[in-house]
Amino acid sequence: SHSCGSDPTVSSLSVNKETLQKQIDELSTFSDTPAPSVTRILYTEKDVLARRYIKNTMAMSGLTVREDDVGNLFGRWDGYEPELGAVGTGSHVDAIPYSGKYDGVVGVLGAIESINVLRRSGFKPKRSLEVILFTSEEPTRFGISCLGSRLLAGSQTLANALKGTFDAQNISFFDAARSAGYTNDKEELSSVFLKKGSYSAFVELHIEQGPILEEEGIDIGIVTAIAAPASVKVDFEGNGGHAGAVLMPNRNDAGLAAAELALGVEKHVLESGSIDTVGTVGVLDLHPGAINSIPSKAHLEIDTRDIDEARRNNVIEKVHKSALAIAEKRKVKLSEFKIVNQDPPALCDESIIMSMEAASKELELTYKKMISRAYHDSLFMARVSPMGMIFIPCYKGYSHKPEEYASIENIANGVKVLALTLAKLSLQ
Ligand code: GLV
Ligand code: MN
Ligand code: MN
Ligand code: MN
Repeated sequence: SHSCGSDPTVSSLSVNKETLQKQIDELSTFSDTPAPSVTRILYTEKDVLARRYIKNTMAMSGLTVREDDVGNLFGRWDGYEPELGAVGTGSHVDAIPYSGKYDGVVGVLGAIESINVLRRSGFKPKRSLEVILFTSEEPTRFGISCLGSRLLAGSQTLANALKGTFDAQNISFFDAARSAGYTNDKEELSSVFLKKGSYSAFVELHIEQGPILEEEGIDIGIVTAIAAPASVKVDFEGNGGHAGAVLMPNRNDAGLAAAELALGVEKHVLESGSIDTVGTVGVLDLHPGAINSIPSKAHLEIDTRDIDEARRNNVIEKVHKSALAIAEKRKVKLSEFKIVNQDPPALCDESIIMSMEAASKELELTYKKMISRAYHDSLFMARVSPMGMIFIPCYKGYSHKPEEYASIENIANGVKVLALTLAKLSLQ
């Protein structure tokens, strides 16, 4: 009867691997760079096509589809107690320049397939199940990561900041959103904030993006915590000038200041003494960018992460001091040192961890508890819901490059663990 649902039996859970692989391959063709690379940037034509593909796939799975004002996409399977908080799952399909086809995608198409798996098994959810496609997990276009999930988690700071946010082509966030069909004349995003209690649990399936599971031959990673990311934008300005005519003592080269700061980032990260502290200067732009012109402006973007928030913040402080010292020494102006985000780490919920462990055991899959060094929308969903993450092995741990790969067998294992976990959480 409706009042006493039960978990699906393990033998009733089957993943349609061919279809899932075909969907992953089809989605990867919505890309602005040639295969095997994938580039899919927020609100571009390819992103819109990918969203349409996901909406169709959700609809084919019988999900009720809804979008919010920034394009977070929700596909819902109503439970028999639909007034209860739902169990959410999902990830993203945007892809940084020249990346691969599994990051995020496995957690969206795999989530939809987990719904199919449960339907085929005859399972009836008590709490509704909801698949979410988050808008812009990657910071590529507007410099802010996890844009959709930050807003879902109620970030008024971000809602305000987006009113003055432009991409590198000087297109405003709201114009870009409008071009993708998300019209919002009020430019007011509090409608996106989730109501309290919307979700009783949120679980994200993702490739590990690290080598541990593959190296150790383990099927499933059960995430216990997500490391804390921070990002900083820096600008130096000097006088520039002719590369032949201005003599060395008379220069204040913004490019050299940036180069020195990039090495400073590496130094301060290593000074932490922990292997868990990492830092990257992934953007370094020189202006005017001509071989015979001394750089008059330099722009750096710094990404630094740690499982220890205080230790990571200490790196940022040291980098700031170095930036000031370098500017003084080189007589350039430090015209910007902006901390874009400085997020705290998130812990996964104990009872969701227990459900994921139970699901793995019932499916006779090996598993290991681990931390996530990459960030995910789950970091922000954790602010509004108990959260958990399931990792699957990926080839050599490769990610954010075209060689990224996960076998359909490993993906199917992850989908089964997700399906069984969702079922358990739905009945709680
Ligand atoms: C997001 O993809 C990250 O950099 O972890
Ligand atoms: Mn990514
Ligand atoms: Mn991802
Ligand atoms: Mn990520």
